[in-house]
Amino acid sequence: MRQHSPLMSPLVWDLAHIANQEELWLLRNVGGIEPMHPEIDPLYDAFEHPRAERPSLPLLAPAQARSYGHEVRGRVLDLLESTRFSGSRLLTDGFAFGMVAQHEVQHDETMLITHQLRTGAPVLPAAPPAPAPADALRLPAEVLVPGGPFTMGTSTDPWALDNERPAHTVDVPSFYLDTTPVTCGAYAAFIAGGGYDEARWWTEAGWAHRQHAGLVAPLYWSYSGAGQWTRRVFGRTEPIEPAEPVLHVSWYEADAYARWAGRRLPTEAEWEKAARFDPATGTSRRYPWGDADPSAALANLDQPNLDQQRLRPAPAGSYAAGAAPCGARQLIGDVWEWTSSDFGPYPGFSAWPYREYSEVFFGPECKVLRGGSFAVSHVACRGTFRNWDYPIRRQIFSGFRTARSAAVTAAAGRPAEHA
Ligand SMILES: [Fe+2]
Repeated sequence: MRQHSPLMSPLVWDLAHIANQEELWLLRNVGGIEPMHPEIDPLYDAFEHPRAERPSLPLLAPAQARSYGHEVRGRVLDLLESTRFSGSRLLTDGFAFGMVAQHEVQHDETMLITHQLRTGAPVLPAAPPAPAPADALRLPAEVLVPGGPFTMGTSTDPWALDNERPAHTVDVPSFYLDTTPVTCGAYAAFIAGGGYDEARWWTEAGWAHRQHAGLVAPLYWSYSGAGQWTRRVFGRTEPIEPAEPVLHVSWYEADAYARWAGRRLPTEAEWEKAARFDPATGTSRRYPWGDADPSAALANLDQPNLDQQRLRPAPAGSYAAGAAPCGARQLIGDVWEWTSSDFGPYPGFSAWPYREYSEVFFGPECKVLRGGSFAVSHVACRGTFRNWDYPIRRQIFSGFRTARSAAVTAAAGRPAEHA
């Protein structure tokens, strides 16, 4: 019932909101069934009540929220058996069911973010970190993505959301991309090298925010002396793992790191081309490894639901089997990756099934993140999937990798984080 941060809802709000959206879209819109509890609808409308307000609402208690969710789910499963996936745009290919399933797993990630923010019992159980990949020390620091056109977005993926549509051609000049996300070890070198102390690495707005918010390290990091950092992970405090992708950095910090390293963040188009384009066929695929669904050998997804109970990113260079044709690893899973791009519509965009899904967020205020984190479900993860947030946000499971244009020589002094 508690609110652990004004940025997040009380967990019990997410629980009943998941059920309420499922009832609204499936039982009412698809099934034509009368509202079960119309009086609670306004409480769980995300646009009516910002997160900071939600703890003061007369929310369903945990047991009531659970039984509401079970009741909705039971009726939805009955409806699913009798529904034909045709006749309307909402029903074609089961889109409405897919949208509701994606909504639920996205709130699972939101709730995991709340668990990471909160302090006190209970600590979430987690398995020990995964070992480093066998070839970690031999991986090149960066990979080349050759220039040329590729297909960005999709017009055919049945569960793709409005902002991923339609497919369109984008010409992307040659560029180099980090083979893996930037690690905690490399990021610690940025801190030790004065990255947070010099305005020249930051955008004007980024430096103002760094000063105002007093940023000195990623969220949840604490300095323990003698160049050592610890961090809090779901209630436990531990030394940082130098080989793990850095988490909980804002866009401003990612951007400053990239400039300090003599590089830049990739554009959204660059990221998607690296993740989807197959030069052998000239086509864009669903995932870096091809069109097959994700599995435990291909990407670090689906925590804490399936068999990967580590609740953290895997060491940089993991998941060789999930590498993209360009050789980049971990583009899907592990950490959300900030891109340099503002969140905007693709050419030919039309809002579907409601404006508040994407369109109201388009503009220079939000930056795009790609690829999904360890807390993302495969149900809501694909090479076209777009996430967005404000550049100051870092309670999300955000990391990044850097890029450079192929025509530009790498600046001296780049930290050898992958060497
Ligand atoms: Fe929601």
